[in-house]
Amino acid sequence: MVSKKILVLGGAGYIGSHVVCELLDKGYEVLVYDNMSTGQSENLFEKAGFIKADILDVDSLQKAMQGVDAVIFFAGKKAVGESMINPEMYAQNNLIGAVNVLNAMCANGVKNIIFSSSAAVYGIPQYVPLDENHPLNPINFYGFTKWEMERLLAWYDQLKGIKYAALRYFNAAGYDVQGRVRGREQNPQNLLPIIAEVADGKRKCLQIFGSDYDTPDGTCLRDYIHVNDLASAHVLALEALFAGRDSMTLNLGTGKGVSVKEIVASAEKFLGRKLPVEYAQRRPGDPAVLYAKADKAKELLGWEPKFVSVDEIVSSFLKKH
Ligand code: UFG
Repeated sequence: MVSKKILVLGGAGYIGSHVVCELLDKGYEVLVYDNMSTGQSENLFEKAGFIKADILDVDSLQKAMQGVDAVIFFAGKKAVGESMINPEMYAQNNLIGAVNVLNAMCANGVKNIIFSSSAAVYGIPQYVPLDENHPLNPINFYGFTKWEMERLLAWYDQLKGIKYAALRYFNAAGYDVQGRVRGREQNPQNLLPIIAEVADGKRKCLQIFGSDYDTPDGTCLRDYIHVNDLASAHVLALEALFAGRDSMTLNLGTGKGVSVKEIVASAEKFLGRKLPVEYAQRRPGDPAVLYAKADKAKELLGWEPKFVSVDEIVSSFLKKH
């Protein structure tokens, strides 16, 4: 029986709640820490402790760190567009928040952290698939904050011996295949939750941003990685750090590019009806093609995504629980 205690910052959010499920399954003691700004109360599990507080609240953070063996850090702002309009908020929450977390870890002797990074650190790909050595050149403020947070982690490792796994997610998608996570994101910004809102009639129509890209069907290719697969990677990374392995920075993706049109076709197949779709201008800052080389995660952690079919990912998202 594992008896380690994990503090999950942002554990009531989309990816955080899936990781909490996986940790509880594996017998970890879990303490969720979330300010509930975007987290959902439906995503809180009875078996996990819960503290409603912000990572900018240093006193609460200090208290929460007591007796903790590792931190998993999801409590970041994540909307690309918003980060370009309100960089102050992103600097405050993501950068100052990260400093607070790391300092509270130092003060309490917590030595391990799993950090949610993003493919956004790479910017426009110079080649695909993107490996971890691809130059880092974020083109939005959100990606910049993720890159800075990775650099902070590297310094705290060197100076304070904090070991980290920085996990660069590609396009997180899907919902728990067992239906345990029930909360749905409010005001979604990403393709699949927008499709779900169109399917529910909450939005009139899906706009496909650009149909003249140099891709097989003219729409952008992305690497959609199922959130249950992300969750299993977090637990493997945690176990690797507990086993004394060195810090690591890893891509988490499937290695496969899927087009916007393929996602829409899969959603329509699942729903058994056509969705209202309109073709719109390209969205500024969207690269045509973005997919991962995720071999390093396999080599270091033995991790491989299980839910790789587009239909599985899309249906787990659209299913009603
Ligand atoms: N798209 C549409 N219509 C929409 C929404 C999205 O056509 O209404 C298209 C986009 O143009 C893009 C694809 O669907 O081609 C996926 O778009 P998302 O907004 O879902 O995701 P992004 O690829 O832009 O970004 C996501 C995360 C970022 C992360 C990035 C890393 O939002 O945080 O993946 O790959 F950095």
